[in-house]
Amino acid sequence: MPGVFQLSPDELLREAARAYGMGVPAVLLFGIPADKDAQATGAYARNGIVQQTVRLLKKELPELVVITDVCLCEYMSHGHCGIVKPDATGGRILNDPTLKLLARTASSHVEAGADVVAPSDMMDGRVRAIREALDQAGFTDAPILSYAAKFASAFYGPFREAAESAPGFGDRRTYQMDPANTLEALREVALDIQEGADIVMVKPALAYLDILHRVKMEFGYPTAAYAVSAEYSMIKAASAKGWIDEAAVTLESLLAMRRAGADILITYAAKEAARWLKEGRA
Ligand code: PBG
Ligand code: ZN
Repeated sequence: MPGVFQLSPDELLREAARAYGMGVPAVLLFGIPADKDAQATGAYARNGIVQQTVRLLKKELPELVVITDVCLCEYMSHGHCGIVKPDATGGRILNDPTLKLLARTASSHVEAGADVVAPSDMMDGRVRAIREALDQAGFTDAPILSYAAKFASAFYGPFREAAESAPGFGDRRTYQMDPANTLEALREVALDIQEGADIVMVKPALAYLDILHRVKMEFGYPTAAYAVSAEYSMIKAASAKGWIDEAAVTLESLLAMRRAGADILITYAAKEAARWLKEGRA
């Protein structure tokens, strides 16, 4: 992905400080472990890459809001977001056994100091499992930002390459949402709210503004939009060709997400957008 890099904890601290200085209020962390296995051990290791980095960030930049992506795919040898039971087709994702690992991962992030945990796996029941684990560990105030309506999308391609998390077999359609199905997405949001989500997210953003708008209208809940890797990369590529005005197109896209109902924008262009806004580009 253009302008997006895998960072070590010390590099990330410098990058986060720069972003915070430019007016970006929060970061969302994804971990890339040295080793992957079939139990995603690196996801919930006490001294895992995300846990280490969260400790460092909260110590050095306590005002910056640190959100952690909670998923297993980057830590799994097979690249799926849940535990896999191998079979003739490659394997099946086991929903319920995965919940324990997700809850452990979220607790370990909050224990390290994360301000918000953001489960992106799309297993059924994960928000409740995470809420219960956090409460039991005494983290009753730690909020959950749920990737509530996360579609099985081709727009995640550049991320999977950057984060080394493409599934080794099959695809994610048994757990992510059907892009054609609005009502299923709304049911997912309703369930996540019932289970204890504090903020719900719609992802991708630009191709799903109708969903974003309906979620905000029907639930009136704090709502986030995630402008995903291909949304960002397409703008970068077209502007590198001189075909579009990068600042204008980026800001107009983000504005569209706000207009559709997003209270929170998650974007790879956060630093640039903050600068363009300061410069009065919108
Ligand atoms: C991991 C995860 C993905 C993204 C965020 N968390 C990839 C996926 O579900 O395959 C996508 C982010 C992006 O494309 O910017 N579950
Ligand atoms: Zn995942």
